[in-house]
Amino acid sequence: MKISASFLSSNYNLEDTIKYLNESSTDYIHVDFMDNTFVNNTSYSLKDLEVLKNTNKRLDVHLMVSEPLKYIDYFSKLNTEFISFHYEAVNNHLEIINYIKGKNIKVGMAINPETNIDVLNPFLDLIDLVLVMSVTPGRGGQEFIYNTVNKIKELKEKKNILINVDGGINKDTIKLVDTDIAVAGSYICKSDNFEERINSLRS
Ligand code: DX5
Ligand code: ZN
Repeated sequence: MKISASFLSSNYNLEDTIKYLNESSTDYIHVDFMDNTFVNNTSYSLKDLEVLKNTNKRLDVHLMVSEPLKYIDYFSKLNTEFISFHYEAVNNHLEIINYIKGKNIKVGMAINPETNIDVLNPFLDLIDLVLVMSVTPGRGGQEFIYNTVNKIKELKEKKNILINVDGGINKDTIKLVDTDIAVAGSYICKSDNFEERINSLRS
């Protein structure tokens, strides 16, 4: 399983956090971007996120916004492997999928804990990854929602597709999920040894 580190909640400033993640063995950096529309919160501004120009890690971008098209050009200029947008946030799913693909970036669709995975049916052949939320999007440091485990199982039965899980992941909850990638935020970035935490997720 690959590890994607979210820096939304960290004990360190943005620059230092990214520096420590660059020095770590994390497979991806998970970029949470919110603009106070789809969720009731904001994260770093696009200007702040320019610090990501200096990373050699692949980025796993998670857009929690109601107009993803506004931000895709920006993130496509960084070292981005995936851009995920929320099923619940938009009506123009196909337009967004095609726009991301046109930038040669893999497309992810994120679903909230209360959203049934069947809503993904029309899109599963068009997207590369499903980002299964195991907390309500909006902030870091929340508790893992346990019915995510069944949701992931159902999704795997439905289709062989990359699965990423996001929220409340630590050394215990990661054992419950069988996914290709797992996002961990506060478990890594609210510690004084990022690499030790990343290794504990892998073991
Ligand atoms: C929640 C974000 C998550 C979150 C992960 O809105 O999408 O990526 O920051 O943080 P932890 O691991 O602390 O739940
Ligand atoms: Zn996220």
